[in-house]
Amino acid sequence: MNFQLKALSLPACCAEKADALLVLLPKTALAGKDTIAALVAAARADGDLKPAAGQVLSLYRVAGVAARRVVLASTGEGKPRDARVAVQAAFAALKGVKLGSLIIALGALTKAESALVATVVQAAVEAGYAYSLTKSKSPEGGIESVLVAVGDVGATEKAFETGLATGLGINLAREWGNRPANHATPRLLAEAAKALTQAGPAKPHKKAHAIECKVLGPKEVAKLGMGSFMAVAQGSSEPLRFIVLRYQGAAAKQAPVVLVGKGITFDTGGISIKPAAEMDEMKFDMCGAASVLGTFRAIAQLQPAINLVGLIPSCENMPDGRAIKPGDVVKSMSGQTIEILNTDAEGRLVLCDALSYAERFEPSAVIDIATLTGACMVALGGVRSGLFASDDVLAEALYSAGEAALDLCWRMPLDDEYAEGLKSNFADVANVGGRAGGAITAAKFLQRFADKFAWAHLDIAGTAWKSGAAKGSTGRPVGLLVQYVLNQAEILAKKPSAAPKKRAPRQPVPR
Ligand code: BES
Ligand code: MN
Ligand code: ZN
Repeated sequence: MNFQLKALSLPACCAEKADALLVLLPKTALAGKDTIAALVAAARADGDLKPAAGQVLSLYRVAGVAARRVVLASTGEGKPRDARVAVQAAFAALKGVKLGSLIIALGALTKAESALVATVVQAAVEAGYAYSLTKSKSPEGGIESVLVAVGDVGATEKAFETGLATGLGINLAREWGNRPANHATPRLLAEAAKALTQAGPAKPHKKAHAIECKVLGPKEVAKLGMGSFMAVAQGSSEPLRFIVLRYQGAAAKQAPVVLVGKGITFDTGGISIKPAAEMDEMKFDMCGAASVLGTFRAIAQLQPAINLVGLIPSCENMPDGRAIKPGDVVKSMSGQTIEILNTDAEGRLVLCDALSYAERFEPSAVIDIATLTGACMVALGGVRSGLFASDDVLAEALYSAGEAALDLCWRMPLDDEYAEGLKSNFADVANVGGRAGGAITAAKFLQRFADKFAWAHLDIAGTAWKSGAAKGSTGRPVGLLVQYVLNQAEILAKKPSAAPKKRAPRQPVPR
């Protein structure tokens, strides 16, 4: 899909040839006496187009409009979420229609348009995604070109680029989330990460910062002493991969943000095997990893002045003659021993070693993203991801990034009392702590491995994919993460003199 931003009035849009013209409408009457203004006035008067966000009216071969179809879409109060609803409704109205070219006209929104361009473009990019890899026929109605018509290109260009890059990052995450586990093995995920070294800005320039990618296999991981990660992988004949991504957009001395994504390409539960119903959905257990790939894709395109590291521990969790058994004790890279009471609590076992690995980057913040617990899905449903953080500034930054990006999260507690259940008679810690507060005990487990830096954990078990008829990956929380990284780059740019201080070593959390 090719997106283009152009200064074009509503009457000029009407003269433009296209398969469809989508007009985003404010609540108020349109200024002017052109075809669209007259149509909208009549439709509003007849009650055929309510002003509420998401109300649409589809028209065919309208006199005075060169585009074959016209879709009028109300944006209600004109907030970003209203604009997103309007774009989604408009694309739903065009579903199955042959659409080579599309014009999206924001011109009628005038002053408010610059605030909505990013949201609208992102929503359009997302709406244009369709899964096809393992279908023998490619889906119908693929859009080739989208012209985004605004009043002022200069004022909207940056938002346009952000919306486009974020949408493409989200779609990359969705694609990898959606791929069946036999088409998204740890090795294939590593290939996808390597392919990101070719990603770059929309308009290529010499000084662009490229993504670097290093992939570790079983031997290297063993050498690092990642006994916990290796324990999960040992039940599968697919070899594990540990993926290291780097984007260097700022001076080398600038402490990076580290993103750690859970990359379990299939979670059977292992010997603590899961029930058969809906087990297919455990192909989505690498959505944290996919969100790291998607974020890097967007960042490579946007080139912010910040340093970013991505870490992905990836393997399958399988039952097997060589698989870990409940009660097995393993030694993590941190030196802490872990009693694996439940082999289905594998996410924390791969993440803990990745968190230890993150220490070497002396990061400004480490954020792990994981489809970690069914309990988080019970607590927050599919609306907000669970946010856990050892650092209030980091928690606030992630929370507000989520609000701004319409990719919501909600802070959860980390009181030490929640760690009670993780006590073990045979190791330093157990990998499960009982049913009550399951999302929190999982986070408390991870916190033991994150005491050397500001740390946050996003539990996306409820938000990373949808079940039922609309089964599929959502690409969340790429929107939140991209927004957070861009915000951090802005903060750094505002105080260039504030050289990153070496952090004072933190007090270890009580064990
Ligand atoms: N990947 C699952 C979490 C999950 C389950 C996400 C269902 C979305 C839907 C994770 O590895 C897991 O199995 N967690 C267990 C932990 C338990 C054994 C303490 C869970 O949530 O049941
Ligand atoms: Mn599991
Ligand atoms: Zn899992």
